Amino acid sequence: EEREPAGIDSHTSLYGVIGDPVRHSKSPVMLNRAFREAGVNGVYVAWHIRQESLGDFVAGVRAMGIRGVNVTIPHKLNIMRHLDRIDDGALAIGAVNTIVNEEGALTGYNTDGIGYVRSLKEEAEPELEGKRIVVLGAGGAARGIVYALSGEGPDSLVIVNRTAEKAEELADLFRSRADVRAAGIDRLRELCGEADIVINTTSIGMYPNVEEVPLDAGWLKEGAVASDLIYNPLKTRFLREAEERGCRIHGGLGMFVYQGAYAFEYWTGLPAPIEAMREAVLQTME
Ligand code: ATR
Repeated sequence: EEREPAGIDSHTSLYGVIGDPVRHSKSPVMLNRAFREAGVNGVYVAWHIRQESLGDFVAGVRAMGIRGVNVTIPHKLNIMRHLDRIDDGALAIGAVNTIVNEEGALTGYNTDGIGYVRSLKEEAEPELEGKRIVVLGAGGAARGIVYALSGEGPDSLVIVNRTAEKAEELADLFRSRADVRAAGIDRLRELCGEADIVINTTSIGMYPNVEEVPLDAGWLKEGAVASDLIYNPLKTRFLREAEERGCRIHGGLGMFVYQGAYAFEYWTGLPAPIEAMREAVLQTME
């Protein structure tokens, strides 16, 4: 396995991701490529932190002046109590995936939802205003996405979930931002037939269950956008079938790249080298 020469000196800033587990994370490869490409003197590593050590970890961040941290499962909620400030979006979503350390003041952000929307606009549909959007699923990922989409002026955002109450709860959270509603799964077919964008936020179709589909692509309008948060596989069966149906398709890799791009931009103030980051992740998947 090829690794970059370090180029580390006494000015190098430290960054990393915490999670439990964390060894599968593609963030170190992606962010180290970004630093190199943009000429940032930083290094990004992965720390396996358990729940009971979260407070000690944050004390370490302060003591060592670690400049930035990404937070993944299962710490996105519990990290919040240890920070000095939570950004409005992260507060609304109820989860933090990015910490910025500005001279000892730690601010928590959530770049997942805005990363998704930026990827959707760049890669599939630049104009979200006036669009009819259906979101399948109401878990943690859906929360960030519904938050971000509700700020884009959609015509409507309908959430459909196996467990109906969770869709209702999510719709209630963001109802003030747009026409956000929940609908029963029995209406999914009809809703898909009217939708401009249909987004799968569930794990249905994720490796190793690659033959599963969250819905019948035959229900989609021709020319609609079919979007799937899953990036393993890069093109799910849902997306393959939607493409055959004549839909535009949008896979989950972009969301991962752009959530990291926002973190990079918050930390460095520089534009993220998106294509280099995407390529770095793709290389790990070959
Ligand atoms: P994530 O953070 O990835 O969103 P999560 O919070 O566990 O993960 O949410 C998983 C989502 O996928 C939920 O909406 C879940 O539906 P329920 O709320 O009914 O549990 C949905 N999901 C997962 N597996 C599913 C399946 N086999 N069929 C239907 N929905 C499924």
